[in-house]
Amino acid sequence: MAKRTIVALPGDGIGKIVLEQSIRVLNAAGFDARYEYGDIGWEFWRNEGNPLPQRTLDLLAKHRIALFGAITSKPEDDAQAELNTSLKGKGFKYSSPIVGLRQHFNLDICIRPCKSYKGNPLNFIRRGRGDTIEEPLVDVVIFRQNTECLYSGVEWTNPPGNVYKALLTHPRFRENFGAVPVEEISVSARIFTRKATARILHAAFEYARKYGYKSVTVCEKPNVIRETSGMMWRLAREMQKNSFPEIKLLNTNIDAQMMWLTKNPEDYGVIVAGNMFGDIVSDAFAGLIGGLGFACSAQFSSDGIAVFEPTHGSAPKYAGYEVSIVNPVAMIESACMMLDYIGEKKLCSDIRRSIAGVIEEGKIRTYDMMKMAGSPGVLDNGAASTVQMTDAIISHLIKIQGND
Ligand code: NAI
Ligand code: MG
Repeated sequence: MAKRTIVALPGDGIGKIVLEQSIRVLNAAGFDARYEYGDIGWEFWRNEGNPLPQRTLDLLAKHRIALFGAITSKPEDDAQAELNTSLKGKGFKYSSPIVGLRQHFNLDICIRPCKSYKGNPLNFIRRGRGDTIEEPLVDVVIFRQNTECLYSGVEWTNPPGNVYKALLTHPRFRENFGAVPVEEISVSARIFTRKATARILHAAFEYARKYGYKSVTVCEKPNVIRETSGMMWRLAREMQKNSFPEIKLLNTNIDAQMMWLTKNPEDYGVIVAGNMFGDIVSDAFAGLIGGLGFACSAQFSSDGIAVFEPTHGSAPKYAGYEVSIVNPVAMIESACMMLDYIGEKKLCSDIRRSIAGVIEEGKIRTYDMMKMAGSPGVLDNGAASTVQMTDAIISHLIKIQGND
């Protein structure tokens, strides 16, 4: 019997394709696991009126660890139009199953590493002194609070009377918005809780310590957003002083960070932020290391549920290709994060070395790495298919493991 059970959640579109490739790599590496497939995504919305069926939640509650591909989400009108005829008009309402998964299991910690591979033609370059061109290697790990902030859905247009009355008790609201008709006001609440903020900070510091990063940067805007960003910064200072004195604590504002990004990305280690700024800063850093084909992530709850997934979505326009062209690296890297999490350090490092080897060699590259516009024709112009890219990584892996 296999040592472990991993829940495999392929989802929609290219999610199905890249997930399968990551499992091929895990098998080739000798990872001893069996995969239980769970239902999630558009097909289940159409046929059952629920893109995240209870049986899938039960499966993850039982086995605790999932590899997730990607899902397709659509606006409510399209969702209703595509619902099976027999379910129409029965009160089913669509909501994104990945957001549902995060909420159900309270997956409040999201980790997004952005590390450049040597030889990746998509790596960020900048002008150095004189006429030189520099290619700073980025090694940044972003910790994004995943459940609160502006994404928690506490919002109103034309807020109800009691909310409006409460807002009027704030002097700033009275001064700046008191004369605006209530029906012309939209409010989205930015909520941070002490517990969740402390958890994301602690995870960031622990990670920095465990993996030898010298600094943790809080990327918020505490000078302006005094309550929420302010709380995160104050807690970070306290935590650093009491528990992580050897780690340097830095504070950048999200806007300034976007500028520093292209000036000195190599100077950052671990970055921690609330949900929205974490989303922004992680996409920005992902752009420096090759974009969506390279951006991996992990999400954790406080009671030991872990979901590993690429940052990209289901890319519907590439889903129906006879031969898939998308880059499997982001998904394979996400699988590496899973191996690391469960303590399979050697397998994790073998796979990462194999990816690095293929990229540095530069013979096999997917269309994004060749800066082509995606189309079936890219394969005739020298781009590798999804499967060829995976094959190259597996060949490297076999070589590496054979030499050990
Ligand atoms: P997307 O990430 O699916 O694709 C955007 C573009 O990025 C693609 O058209 C392609 O050019 C490129 N790309 C993405 N993955 C790639 C890969 N592995 N290799 C090479 N290029 C790649 O985002 P989009 O188009 O905004 O959304 C498509 C669907 O995915 C929507 O229904 C959206 O709701 C959903 N989505 C789901 C996510 C999830 O499951 N976590 C996250 C983001 C979007
Ligand atoms: Mg995003």
